[in-house]
Amino acid sequence: MKIILEHQVALVTGGSRGIGAATVKLFADAGAKVIFSYLRAARQAQELVKACGGAGRALAVRADVANVAGAKRLIQAAIRRFGRLDILVANAGIWNFPPLPIEKMSEREWDEMMAINLKGVYAVIHHAVPQMIKQRGGRIIVVSSTAGQRGEAFHTHYAASKGGVISLVKGLSTELAPHQILVNCVAPGWIETDMARPVLKSRGMRSKAIAAIPLRRFGRPEEVAMPILFLASSMATYMTGEVVNINGGSVLCG
Ligand SMILES: NC(=O)c1ccc[n+]([C@@H]2O[C@H](COP(=O)([O-])OP(=O)(O)OC[C@H]3O[C@@H](n4cnc5c(N)ncnc54)[C@H](OP(=O)(O)O)[C@@H]3O)[C@@H](O)[C@H]2O)c1
Repeated sequence: MKIILEHQVALVTGGSRGIGAATVKLFADAGAKVIFSYLRAARQAQELVKACGGAGRALAVRADVANVAGAKRLIQAAIRRFGRLDILVANAGIWNFPPLPIEKMSEREWDEMMAINLKGVYAVIHHAVPQMIKQRGGRIIVVSSTAGQRGEAFHTHYAASKGGVISLVKGLSTELAPHQILVNCVAPGWIETDMARPVLKSRGMRSKAIAAIPLRRFGRPEEVAMPILFLASSMATYMTGEVVNINGGSVLCG
């Protein structure tokens, strides 16, 4: 049985690089029409549109998810271009490097993390849900992190934002169930993307991180995109409010 998303429209935030880009490509390969946002990586975004089959199949829109009005324009662009919205993947996010002790964390740093990682998720869901209610169903998948499950020392604002989205998903799964909108979340561990680059580049940090992963390696972006595709598909019709762990076995909780 193959996952087919033909006649479906998917929106992925932060689709220009990393996990988001892998998700956009997989959705397009499954037959969906895909709209994705980027902020700075305009060249990668345009290359990805081409790789997905061009303007008829994919659309890249510049939008800062921390800006609620920008999130609204993004959702409106999807509906204007492709006529509907079936799947939303709230993926865009930032992490902090170097590590930051709480007593040195400024209000500006705290606010920026929350604005992108937590408010940014609220913003796209807030504007997508009316369309999904109108269509009598939809799928929302949020990208959290192992940090949201077990915390992360010296990245506490990041961990708090990712824990926040898990609570958001659990509440929304019940709230939106009457509308047949299924809301789930994935919680990746270390994945080989630009975000993890500082750790990947340092032999010391890399081997320390790998020692804590039972599968003894970082994951690849596609290894997160595949479970996201599953959650968006007709293979996951009775799952909502779930946290799917994608971490090589490093957090045995959910
Ligand atoms: N990599 C990991 O180890 C890991 C582990 C757990 C969870 N995650 C989560 O997975 C998600 C994707 O991370 P990644 O590793 O793929 O990161 P990445 O390679 O750094 O890519 C981040 C993406 O988010 C976009 N983005 C950042 N700030 C944005 C904003 N304000 N508005 C709109 N888009 C914005 C970026 O767009 P531009 O490049 O166009 O600016 C880019 O497309 C994040 O939520 C992250 O927290 C990652």
